[in-house]
Amino acid sequence: MALPNGIQSTQELLDAHAHIWNHIFSFINSMSLKCAVQLRIPDIIHKHQKPMTLSELIDALPNINRAKFHYVERLMRILIHSKFFTKVEISEDKQGYWLTPSSLHLIKDEPMNVTPFVLAMLDPILTDPWNELSEWFKTVDPTPFLTTHGKTLWEQAEKDLRLNQLFNESMASDTRFVSYVIVKDCRHVFEGLKSMVDVAGGTGTMAKAIADAFPGLNCSVLELPHVVASLEGTQNLTFVAGDMFDSIPPADAVFMKVKQL
Ligand SMILES: C[S@@+](CC[C@H](N)C(=O)[O-])C[C@H]1O[C@@H](n2cnc3c(N)ncnc32)[C@H](O)[C@@H]1O
Repeated sequence: MALPNGIQSTQELLDAHAHIWNHIFSFINSMSLKCAVQLRIPDIIHKHQKPMTLSELIDALPNINRAKFHYVERLMRILIHSKFFTKVEISEDKQGYWLTPSSLHLIKDEPMNVTPFVLAMLDPILTDPWNELSEWFKTVDPTPFLTTHGKTLWEQAEKDLRLNQLFNESMASDTRFVSYVIVKDCRHVFEGLKSMVDVAGGTGTMAKAIADAFPGLNCSVLELPHVVASLEGTQNLTFVAGDMFDSIPPADAVFMKVKQL
């Protein structure tokens, strides 16, 4: 059989084939990350306070079926390849799993823990729409979420308490990290302001960080009622339930951090 048009060698043919396989199976990386978070592997290694051998890790994993033990090593191999863990020498004949800068963001008690974001973004309710992408292109729907679930994400979250909590916590965890950077490196943006409104500000993580950093700045968060219904403000932070397409509370500055899903 001749080489396909434009392909010069069998190596090029193999590379092209491998390229497709890498893209087909790249979801294994995200799903392995999700699995590690669900099994609390970063927390377990962190609690151990030193590199952990495979058998120590297996002993510490709760509720694992014994028949699956050898798959833990395979899971860890993927996660090492994706740089979520590393393998280090413990002694001459022993190696152990240790944390990387990325896995430090997956530890429950770390202030910049982003596990709620991992679990929400990889939940079927948010990944299923990716399976409908080609269908979505044939519709007038603004998002694949609407094509898949028949409602917008915000309409669905209003009715579905699990989704509402999952999504709000995920945004809060992502924003804890971003707010740290903004308050540390972008202070000049807020200087001189007397009032600011965070439009679609979620449960107020960003506004609270800014309000705490600038006690003289009155911050408000405009959000949909199901997101802020039970939240209480502070001296310089207020929550306003409403729809940004109806009205936005007046303020010296408008802040917005949103994503389209
Ligand atoms: C991607 S989240 C971002 C949340 C927050 N800004 C953050 O970064 O953590 C988008 C937010 O927009 C809110 N939202 C959607 N439609 C809205 C509307 N019409 N009026 C006010 N908020 C809205 C959602 O409830 C959600 O919390």
